Amino acid sequence: DSADKGEYRHFMLKEIFEQPRVIKATMEGRVTAKKVLEQALGTSAGDLLKSVRHVQIIACGTSYHAGMVARYWIEDLAGVPCSVEVASEFRYRKHVIQPDTLFLCISQSGETADTLAALRQAKKAGFRAALAICNVPGSSLVRESDLVMMTQAGPEIGVASTKAFTTQLTALLIFTLALARHNGLSEEREAEIVEALHRVPGQVEQVLALDSAIAEMSGAFMDKVHTLFLGRGSLFPVALEGALKLKEISYIHAEAYPAGELKHGPLALVDSDMPVVTVAPNNAMLEKLKSNLEEVRARGGELFVFADSQANVQAEEGLHVLSLPSVHEVTAPIVYTVPLQLLSYHVAVLKGTDVDQPRNLAKSVTVE
Ligand code: G6P
Repeated sequence: DSADKGEYRHFMLKEIFEQPRVIKATMEGRVTAKKVLEQALGTSAGDLLKSVRHVQIIACGTSYHAGMVARYWIEDLAGVPCSVEVASEFRYRKHVIQPDTLFLCISQSGETADTLAALRQAKKAGFRAALAICNVPGSSLVRESDLVMMTQAGPEIGVASTKAFTTQLTALLIFTLALARHNGLSEEREAEIVEALHRVPGQVEQVLALDSAIAEMSGAFMDKVHTLFLGRGSLFPVALEGALKLKEISYIHAEAYPAGELKHGPLALVDSDMPVVTVAPNNAMLEKLKSNLEEVRARGGELFVFADSQANVQAEEGLHVLSLPSVHEVTAPIVYTVPLQLLSYHVAVLKGTDVDQPRNLAKSVTVE
């Protein structure tokens, strides 16, 4: 058991550090230097993608957060309407499936009961085709879908999902570009984003080098009961995923909000006992995000900001800043996930919880 962990103390840490390699593996054979190879999605993928008018994403847990990021990408780059829902809600309500809908299930295990039930139900309601983004070959989800894009994360042992998430995002971005190509995305823009994707493994490597700085930061969370995570745009689901990681393994209550919603409720909770964690890449929302941070500061909240080195967020009393490499705004959700994984990991280690097998949780929920 410990041999499989190699030099690492926990599977979760090992899996976090595997990300540069598995992200690269998930790109292999699917992208050239400048474009995506849509036949990598299957020989009939081109015809299918041409006819898709709507994408319905279904998933649970961390995979659901990957789906939420994908919705920003699909609507932004492909201009195709996209809905995302957790499987346990979708399967128990009456739903309308639009004509020419691509039904996209995201699952690490391919065996999550609610996700499979949602797919089987949707089959009865009719859709154009089902695409699975999955990490386990031969799983039920893979067998029951028309098209499959495997993530190449390799076996994930830690219950808290890490490398499965970032490889799902990688596959989802490749899928989005393939769809976008049939919906007006220029060759130049495709090349720009594919080039940005090629830089991601190296950028994740740079974030991993911040491990000890993040470990140091984690001390401030140890005795806290509540935390708030903020992000905007495609970084909002990253904030959700950061909060999920923290609650799963450190048992600290964590909530995530789109930063623009602060004033509609959570600001009332802010005081020096509730750390506020924020992801701040250099994108169109940066200035808006900075004014949200001011709102927190003005109320005595302690901020922990993961910011682009060019974002000009200065550390001061009560405002801790960790500089991240500059990343393309489309690929930012992949890179900015990693420091939040490390933060949760180190908080959990300090608290002495069972990091790889948190209480009450299972790796794969195969029963309802
Ligand atoms: C469980 C796991 C999570 C996972 C979720 C969905 O809750 O603990 O880590 O995200 O199931 O699993 P799936 O295999 O469908 O991605």
